[in-house]
Amino acid sequence: SLYFDDGDDFIVIAHRGASAYYPENTMAAFEGAVAMDAEMIELDVLMSKDGVPVVFHDLALDDHTNGNGYIPQYTVEKLKKLDAGSWFDKKFADQRIPTLEEVLQFASGKIALNIEIKTEAVSDQVEGGVEQKSLELVKQYGMEKHVLFSSFDYRAVEHLKQLDPEVSVALLYNKHQSQRQLPHQQVGKFSADAFNCSFRQFSKKWSRNLKKHGIPHFIYTVNSKRKMKKLIKAGVSGIFTNKPDLLHRVKDNL
Ligand code: G3P
Ligand code: MG
Repeated sequence: SLYFDDGDDFIVIAHRGASAYYPENTMAAFEGAVAMDAEMIELDVLMSKDGVPVVFHDLALDDHTNGNGYIPQYTVEKLKKLDAGSWFDKKFADQRIPTLEEVLQFASGKIALNIEIKTEAVSDQVEGGVEQKSLELVKQYGMEKHVLFSSFDYRAVEHLKQLDPEVSVALLYNKHQSQRQLPHQQVGKFSADAFNCSFRQFSKKWSRNLKKHGIPHFIYTVNSKRKMKKLIKAGVSGIFTNKPDLLHRVKDNL
């Protein structure tokens, strides 16, 4: 489904796709997420050497491809030669690093996306480029109502809102964020639309604060039944999980 059409029901978010069962951030993982009826797919975006937004979590290629070195050292043409699936299972040897454009093409009319902007790969010359290019692509595929952007880098959050105040953007929160205010203050400061919080930092106090202020809040990354149950009962807006099938089962059996 396309989340932003559906109002404010609890949503299942496939973290890097259905990444418990498929190599993360690959088309196989995204197809798996759709097959498991996830309402949204989370994916990480970095910039290639030639300025193309590509879907990959780490700056370094070593752990999740047969390449080495770092994403920003390679053009998209070179990145496309790498095997992004064998590290998970030999049967996924044909999986490649997707471009954001390929994922938008796949998701358009089918499923909502959470595009997490990773700014580690951005050199000074192209600062802001990953936000701008990603937003252009989202619009090109008519997905602006079905995409939630997010970032741990709040400069990227501000930049997206500058580029288009209508675009939905979430603050990503973990223990390394310097912000120590209540969530509604943090969200207000950046004119953000949602708060994406690590389950380790999510407290009863913050849950009350977010609900009181009507701020959508999505919690990552949760793969255990017990934690899923607790969070759904607490009234969170959605959960990021590597196991969208399990989260659906838990939700349906509450
Ligand atoms: O967007 C939620 C979550 O993906 C943030 O952390 O490191 O898994 O990208 P990370
Ligand atoms: Mg992520």
